[in-house]
Amino acid sequence: MAIKLIFPEHQFAMTDAHAGGLKELKFVVNGKSRAIRIDPGTPLLYILRNELGLCSPRYGCGSEQCGACKVIVDGKMGFACTLTAEELDGCDIRTLEGLAVDGSLHVLQQAFLAENAAQCGYCASGIIMTAALLLEENQAPSRSEIQQALVGNLCRCGAHNRIIQAIQRAAQELSIE
Ligand code: FES
Ligand code: FES
Repeated sequence: MAIKLIFPEHQFAMTDAHAGGLKELKFVVNGKSRAIRIDPGTPLLYILRNELGLCSPRYGCGSEQCGACKVIVDGKMGFACTLTAEELDGCDIRTLEGLAVDGSLHVLQQAFLAENAAQCGYCASGIIMTAALLLEENQAPSRSEIQQALVGNLCRCGAHNRIIQAIQRAAQELSIE
């Protein structure tokens, strides 16, 4: 039986199978192989932030509602707040920290800066990772396709228009590269 423990700042699932202790987790994060021993019920968000020092994904709702924690897992969008260590063995994970190459910002990061597409910035990592996946699949998204891709990403500051402009700008940059 699964016992779900939910606190404002801490959420994890503990099952009878987890009671035995730690599990060795091997996965790839931003192109680097990693191996850690960890409680299998630990959320990916805590693994990234607390174990690996990758703090771009943020805790917002803890229940796949806000998108602040989004990362790319095996080429698909993943919620780091609810994916747990036991689901991640052998996975390939990409976070915002992995977008820049050799110190050069990704075209999306440059476009977000150019369009000043964040106010507090809390949502930015999840939104940029969502946009990165969108642009990998569709290099010329329409405004409505961008809006559709961002349905699961909340921005409490109301920076939506600038965010969409930044993604359009990045798409345009990609098309002339
Ligand atoms: S913290 Fe994961 S979707 Fe809100
Ligand atoms: S810029 Fe503040 S939540 Fe989006």
